[in-house]
Amino acid sequence: MMKQPEPHILVIFGASGDLTKRKLIPALYELYQQHLLPEKFAVLGVSRTDLTDEAFRGKMREFLPVNFQNGETEANFLKSFFYQSLETSNAGDYPKLKSRLEVMCKELSIPANYIFYLSTPPQLYQVIPPILAEVGLNEVTQGFKRVIIEKPFGTDLSTARELNKKLLAYYTEGQLYRIDHYLGKETVQNMLVTRFSNGIFEPIWNQNFIHHVEITSAETLGVEERGGYYDQSGALRDMVQNHLMQLVGLVAMEPPVVIEANAIRNEMLKVFQSLRPIREDQVARQVFRGQYTPSHIGDELIKGYREENGVNPQSRTETFVALKFFIDNFRWAGVPFYLRTGKKLPTRVTEVVIYFKNTPHHLFEYQSDNELRNNQLVLRIQPDEGVLLKIGMKVPGAGFRVQNMNMDFHYNELSNVYLPSAYSRLLLDCMQGDATLYSRSDAVEKAWEYVQPILDAWKNNPEIPIYGYPAGTWGPEMVDDLVENGAWRRPCKNLAHDGEYCEL
Ligand code: BG6
Repeated sequence: MMKQPEPHILVIFGASGDLTKRKLIPALYELYQQHLLPEKFAVLGVSRTDLTDEAFRGKMREFLPVNFQNGETEANFLKSFFYQSLETSNAGDYPKLKSRLEVMCKELSIPANYIFYLSTPPQLYQVIPPILAEVGLNEVTQGFKRVIIEKPFGTDLSTARELNKKLLAYYTEGQLYRIDHYLGKETVQNMLVTRFSNGIFEPIWNQNFIHHVEITSAETLGVEERGGYYDQSGALRDMVQNHLMQLVGLVAMEPPVVIEANAIRNEMLKVFQSLRPIREDQVARQVFRGQYTPSHIGDELIKGYREENGVNPQSRTETFVALKFFIDNFRWAGVPFYLRTGKKLPTRVTEVVIYFKNTPHHLFEYQSDNELRNNQLVLRIQPDEGVLLKIGMKVPGAGFRVQNMNMDFHYNELSNVYLPSAYSRLLLDCMQGDATLYSRSDAVEKAWEYVQPILDAWKNNPEIPIYGYPAGTWGPEMVDDLVENGAWRRPCKNLAHDGEYCEL
């Protein structure tokens, strides 16, 4: 049974924003329904607009997922919501916030335990925490003070370093919670359990037995309404530097000594430290970038990236990136890692595939030429969450012919199991003071250090091509050249299906 966190007030900056609507409020409601919120608990929404507590509650009610809505529960849940208008960049306004919090603590009998969630435009990550500190809202003598910072954590190595420096001038590392919602995903955490709780995997999880590792994160959506942000970011910053590097860390790390924040985060950091740097002059060969172009899917004309709202019509921002890289340590010496991510691909899927080495000698015939000779272990992050092992089995009948078979586990086979959403898991962890699934400053900087030469190469050498790919395809064709020994897996929505033709 999960322990409820200590009583506290969660202060959400940017309370009327999109993230609050899509993720935070549904996640809080989920915690509420699971009885995981402390009995004495309040949310204080903060933003510029003038609103009464009642009006704010009405607004938050609209953010509740329709299928969750249930009059009484909902009203009880919303009773804990309060609102404070504030000029967030104006230090002179913060004493108002401080006294509001003090009044709330008194009235609601909550000790001065505060979590400040920065669900604001990233420019404010540098601004709000120092002002909070100026009015003493970083002091832990009377209760805990924690700050949750959303991504993007910096836009490159130097801005990430600067932001860390600024935050660490006022807060200890233990007070800072840098969110990466991928770490909140149940299936991402399961990678640790799969690896370190099974005697059969760990002994072969190394360069002696693994041929290569492939990581895919594909989305069918384009940039939707976020063209303005995305055009300044691109897939490398938006997905690789954070979410996908976390996956790399978990697949590749050594067993931590204990399941505890620093022990795990030390091991993650070591993986990032062991990544073989991709030099600027190697980028054109090792990293491919692409951008979706218009295409017809059925009768529908799909817009190209350059026609999206908020996107520069001559944009050279990548909506697809594929790279090959190595981890130079004892475990992974010589094992290629391939990673690809993109928008407007044929299906939404995130997975890590371990390709094991083949047997040293081939005794049998394969049923067809395109049967893969490697055993594969697919760790499916989403959708159809689960784990799949591909193994060779005898084709029944005369002779000894081999055919690939699937052994698969799907989370949806577990009935009555509550799978928490990433945000509810992460919020609860922060409420409990557990930073295991949050990124530490050194790891964030290391991840930026790794991608920085790629960003520099693209910026400084415009002759490095950006390949177009028709929306709805698996990215630029030349990406296949990156992978020796065969093609990328063509995953389908259903974990156990793959190939060129699948239900999308
Ligand atoms: C976000 C990116 O961090 O992650 C988005 O900014 C991306 O561009 C999203 O779509 C993917 O998250 P998920 O959980 O849908 O895989």
